[in-house]
Amino acid sequence: SPAQLKEWNIRVGIIGGSGIYKLEGFQLVATVNPQTPWGYPSSPITISKNASGTHVAFLARHGLTHSFTPSTVPVPANIASLKSLGVKAILAFSAVGSLREEIAPKDFVVPSQIIDRTKGIRRGSFFGEGEDKGVVAHAMFGDPFCETLRPLVEKIARETLAKVAPNVKVHGNKTAVCMEGPQFSTRAESLMYRAWGGDIINMSALPEAKLAREAELAYALIATATDYDAWRPSEESVGVAEVIACLVANVQASQKVTAALVDPIHALVKDDESELVKKHEGTMRDSIMT
Ligand code: ADE
Repeated sequence: SPAQLKEWNIRVGIIGGSGIYKLEGFQLVATVNPQTPWGYPSSPITISKNASGTHVAFLARHGLTHSFTPSTVPVPANIASLKSLGVKAILAFSAVGSLREEIAPKDFVVPSQIIDRTKGIRRGSFFGEGEDKGVVAHAMFGDPFCETLRPLVEKIARETLAKVAPNVKVHGNKTAVCMEGPQFSTRAESLMYRAWGGDIINMSALPEAKLAREAELAYALIATATDYDAWRPSEESVGVAEVIACLVANVQASQKVTAALVDPIHALVKDDESELVKKHEGTMRDSIMT
């Protein structure tokens, strides 16, 4: 109910990628499945609280049984449903391939840029279609991740992993490539992405980051490297078994990083007068072409 939501003051949303289907170390308070004008989210959303009483909303991007491919994830519904609960900041996890020698499998990466190599088959905007047909909006996307949230996520991930997994590195300021899939890249494509300046590659960060921007939410991505993709001449190119083994090895670390991030992110967006909330809210009003 609205009164209940108000009392919980849910401000932080977590989107779990492959390998992360629930939050460890939080107390489950409720499970909800909000219907939005864009349909239902990939999975019911769990609302949990931590020891300090901070409530968070958690959504499994590919569904609880990994039934959505990267191309069929209902991204507009996912973003809209989190927003409907009051979420102002989203921390999204994603498994990625590494395009750089120094980014080793199991390392964490907090990217600052992204190159869109999806193929236009995913709904990439809330505007121009459905109820918003006729509203033409062009969101600013030069900095695709929230420039307040991103450095904080990088710093806390680094501090947390130094304690719980000291041989796991954290890389900041990197460029992600988001490809359509579902097949992995060819060696030629992988080499091309390196030449373009790509550091990591995945299939899920877009249009999620774009729709979060249009929804006026702070959004940061935390990527966990699972493989070296296909560019390395000496290696077998990536396969699913390698990706899964790495994710399993990384789940604990991701859960610890999440636990450490919830309170600091909540503090940034805790009420509607928070600077970070005001930085994002109203930005789309200035993005509509008339
Ligand atoms: N997700 C994990 N590893 C990947 C890779 N090499 N390419 C695209 N998406 C990935």
